Amino acid sequence: MNQLELNQTLQSNSKNDKSLTPDEKIEELKRILHLAPSSMNMQPWQFTFVKNKSVKHKLALSSLDHAEKINQADVLIVFSVVENLDSFQLVIEKELPEGLQDLYNNIKNFTSESDLKIWFSKQVYIAFSIALGTAVSLGMHPTPIENIKPEKYIEILNMVDYKPILTLAINFETENDFFESTNKPKTRRCFEDVIININ
Ligand SMILES: Cc1cc2nc3c(=O)[nH]c(=O)nc-3n(C[C@H](O)[C@H](O)[C@H](O)COP(=O)(O)O)c2cc1C
Repeated sequence: MNQLELNQTLQSNSKNDKSLTPDEKIEELKRILHLAPSSMNMQPWQFTFVKNKSVKHKLALSSLDHAEKINQADVLIVFSVVENLDSFQLVIEKELPEGLQDLYNNIKNFTSESDLKIWFSKQVYIAFSIALGTAVSLGMHPTPIENIKPEKYIEILNMVDYKPILTLAINFETENDFFESTNKPKTRRCFEDVIININ
C-alpha cells in the first residue's frame, strides 16, 4: 500500500512490519512520537500509554464516545497539553537553548495565558497526527477519540501540570477497526475548494 492508499482507507497496512511484535511497534511509536516537531521546539506535551485494564475501564467511563473501543484497546494513548505555565517555565529554562527561551519569554509578555494554551494545544495535535499516521503504517488499528472528560482523566491518571485533550485507542488486531467498520469511501469537501494551486 502506498501513502495515498493508506490515507484513503486509513486502514492498517497489515503487510508492513510483520517482523515487529506488537510491543516493539508500540516502542517504535513512542520513539517517533518523542521526536515530533513543535513550534520553537517547545514540546508542551505529555503522552501517556495506558495498558492497564482497570485504568482503561475507568477512562472508558469518563469518555463520551467509543467507551467500548477504549475498553478493548490494547493501548490507549492519552495526549495532554501543559496546563501549569509556571512549572512549564522551569522545563523551558532547563531544556531550551537561551535564544529560544528569550523568544518564548518575549511572546509570553504580549500573549494572554489562554492564547498561549491554545497555541500549545495546536502542537499536541501535530504530535497526535504523527502518531495516527505512524500507527497505521505500522499495521496497527487506531481510533481517535477527542470526546473525553479531561477533569476525570486528570483524576484517574493522577496528572499534575498537564491536561488531557484527546486520545488514540490502538488495537493490534481487530476486525472492527473504527475506520474499517465504516466500510465506505471517504467523504470529503470538494478537492478544488480545499487544495488551492497558485502556479
Ligand atoms: C483529532 C480527531 C479527533 C476525533 N475525535 C472523535 C471522537 O471523539 N468521536 C468520534 O466518533 N470520532 C472522532 N474522530 C473521527 C472523525 O470523526 C473521523 O476521522 C472523520 O469523521 C473522518 O472519518 P473517515 O476518515 O472514516 O472518513 C476524530 C478524528 C480526529 C482526527
